[in-house]
Amino acid sequence: MTADLPKTMTAKPSNALIGRVTAPGDKSISHRALLLGAMAYGTTTIEGLLEGQDVLHTAGAMRRFGASVTQTGPGSWTVEGQGGLSEPFDIIDCGNAGTGVRLIMGAAAGYDLAATFTGDASLRGRPMGRVLTPLGQMGASWTGRSGGRLPLTLKGGGLSAISYCLPVASAQVKSAVLLAGLNAKGGVEVQEPEATRDHTERMLRAFGATVHVEDKAGLRLIRLAGGQALSGTHVRAPGDPSSAAFPIVAALITPGSEVTVMGVMLNPLRAGVFTTLQDMGADLSISNLREESGEPVGDLTARYSALKGVTVPPERAPAMIDEYPILAVAAAFATGTTIMRGIGEMRVKESDRIALMAAGLTACGVELEEEPEGLIIHGNGKPPRGGATVTTKGDHRIAMAHLVLGLAAQSGVTVDEPGMIATSFPTFHSLMTGLGGLISA
Ligand code: S3P
Repeated sequence: MTADLPKTMTAKPSNALIGRVTAPGDKSISHRALLLGAMAYGTTTIEGLLEGQDVLHTAGAMRRFGASVTQTGPGSWTVEGQGGLSEPFDIIDCGNAGTGVRLIMGAAAGYDLAATFTGDASLRGRPMGRVLTPLGQMGASWTGRSGGRLPLTLKGGGLSAISYCLPVASAQVKSAVLLAGLNAKGGVEVQEPEATRDHTERMLRAFGATVHVEDKAGLRLIRLAGGQALSGTHVRAPGDPSSAAFPIVAALITPGSEVTVMGVMLNPLRAGVFTTLQDMGADLSISNLREESGEPVGDLTARYSALKGVTVPPERAPAMIDEYPILAVAAAFATGTTIMRGIGEMRVKESDRIALMAAGLTACGVELEEEPEGLIIHGNGKPPRGGATVTTKGDHRIAMAHLVLGLAAQSGVTVDEPGMIATSFPTFHSLMTGLGGLISA
């Protein structure tokens, strides 16, 4: 954060939130569109690209790997790919973006080059071994800090085939292996015990690659032959369900509200939070269901609702892993206990999200229990006290979740490092205030 950005942001108890808004472009799709565009031959045009800091770092990285990447209008970008990545002349800084760095490392491993990667303090603390292990088994080498932490230098090229069973349910790891596999002799097979978001598989097909997917003996098998060239295409990034969840939950907990978020991607491997909110009794409906760029998309309307506590099926975690912070806020307004288990991965996101949600909600007067891989929230059907200043450790979703809580709590909530919200949702403040939310720097 630079000196001219606000040091804190405060959300105050607000009147009903009313309006129709458009969700910002999906972050997962935006990273992938830039990366596949750079790896492809020819021109890729992207509409609705998320212009958040994470994605802008990926755009900068693709320029360093030799692609020409230009913005042609708001959300409209063109990538001229070279049919591969070439050795960057300088360090690749991925900022706060775990998806950016892990996918780019996978792609880069397929080419005969050396590249040095780094990121901000949060990213430098996150585990990279989960992608370096399979990439190393394929023949890439690397040297970096202990535990495979950034900064690190990766040497790619000469990759061989692998059949890899994911030890953690991670679309980032799956995607890194698939992208490396494009240039591995013999290709790759990834086995997923739990299905994770499939945007890489879908988008590889849109760029002309053949990807085989089948369910076998309880595993999802994804096979990709090596030596496949990609061709530039047009990508339209649908609205990000992870961002849409913030105004949706804000409407559900603020009396009298009715908010429609238009153009939300509803890929079943991403939409778990909306199913869970409906299980909690949310008045949440989908209209205008359609398909855009190979992804299901719809308009979501949320009205203020009396929520009840639920047990979230742990197997749903991969389909909503980024949404547990805002779900925990919804649970804090519900009547009864909400049990969220099987969410240990939350501890290695942009921050330890279980610990920070537990601390922030406790400071706001919410009763809860923190477990090593779980969070249990006891709601009493009344708005929590609020009135706290919450430490976010620079985590955008921790900040947005507590600001949403502050809109409907008994008294306002302040968060630190609000500048980090721009990593994923640069229009959060204007969108929420446009709906009537009282949020100020
Ligand atoms: C993402 C995958 C998820 C998610 C992240 C985006 C992706 O991470 O948390 O925000 O675009 O592939 P993991 O794959 O590590 O679970």
